[in-house]
Amino acid sequence: MGQVTYVSFDGEETVVDVPNGDNLMQAAIDNGISGILGDCGGGCACATCHCIVDDAWAAKTGEPDEIELDMLDGVVDPKPNSRLSCQITMSDELEGLVIHLPESQF
Ligand code: FES
Repeated sequence: MGQVTYVSFDGEETVVDVPNGDNLMQAAIDNGISGILGDCGGGCACATCHCIVDDAWAAKTGEPDEIELDMLDGVVDPKPNSRLSCQITMSDELEGLVIHLPESQF
């Protein structure tokens, strides 16, 4: 279990306790976070769970794989740290993680 801060496009921060092993899309849905839709249920097939990992955390969340990169090609206004939140799995190393949510998903 660790805390993740979800930051909306207009700066509102929501801190959520995320169990280790859960993905950040599902944690957002479970906690009523606006800005993550998760239409495909975490199958890396919709890109409606786009998030931007805070610069300070980009190295710890790692790089997207080829399938995720293909899906990220289709998001509105991608950033260098863009990820699909369903593909980030909570772990002890990510305690305190901060991710930003794109305006296009609100
Ligand atoms: Fe569909 Fe993440 S929930 S790609």
